[in-house]
Amino acid sequence: MSDYHSFDPALGHGLPHDPIKAIIAPRPIGWISSIGASGVANLAPYSYFNMFSHKPPILIFGSEGRKDTLSNVVQSGAFVFNLATQDLAQQMNQSSGTYPPLTDEFEMAGLGKLNSDTIAVPRVADAAAAMECRVLETRQLHDLDGQPVLSHLIIGQVTRVHIRADLLLDGRFDMVRAGTIARCGYRGDYVRATQTFEMLRPQIG
Ligand SMILES: Cc1cc2nc3c(=O)[nH]c(=O)nc-3n(C[C@H](O)[C@H](O)[C@H](O)COP(=O)(O)O)c2cc1C
Repeated sequence: MSDYHSFDPALGHGLPHDPIKAIIAPRPIGWISSIGASGVANLAPYSYFNMFSHKPPILIFGSEGRKDTLSNVVQSGAFVFNLATQDLAQQMNQSSGTYPPLTDEFEMAGLGKLNSDTIAVPRVADAAAAMECRVLETRQLHDLDGQPVLSHLIIGQVTRVHIRADLLLDGRFDMVRAGTIARCGYRGDYVRATQTFEMLRPQIG
């Protein structure tokens, strides 16, 4: 018989640090670029992020509160997902600072910009991969009592994909060579992809 530490999140975890984000981990990082009404570019990492549809590709990320990225994507209807990798980890982290809305985090982090093909939002130069997205919907989340919570979902459909050519090996994107990083649970914890293994789904019948 196993023992478990069980708790109701509303009542507290009873541990030195909240374990929930350490369990739902590693989380891919959506390094999201957007553009404000004044035309200033914005860049910030979001690890409440994933792909929820393949055909068409649909990406979703979550903003805990009304942040600049949320305001920008509501206003402009577009954003770019940039892949976070080890070589740009410091710049990714720097772009997460709480800067005033008119700050260009590309400049703040010393990053170059590339124009997108389908939207008027720049992407991160040298990023291993990037996906241009147009917003399908944004929505505020509600709890079990129907009360609005801080978090908003931003749902976007991919309109264009960019992959750095040197990271395509035999036609496959090489995430180990790219050095993809992901967010772990506790403050400052990250993981870097160093190995993959193959396991095919069972063939039934
Ligand atoms: C790796 C990483 C992941 C993050 N993930 C999220 C997230 O999923 N949601 C969120 O609201 N903030 C997240 N943050 C914090 C935001 O990046 C931070 O609040 C940033 O200032 C938001 O920028 P903006 O106001 O320009 O959108 C994360 C920070 C880091 C370093």
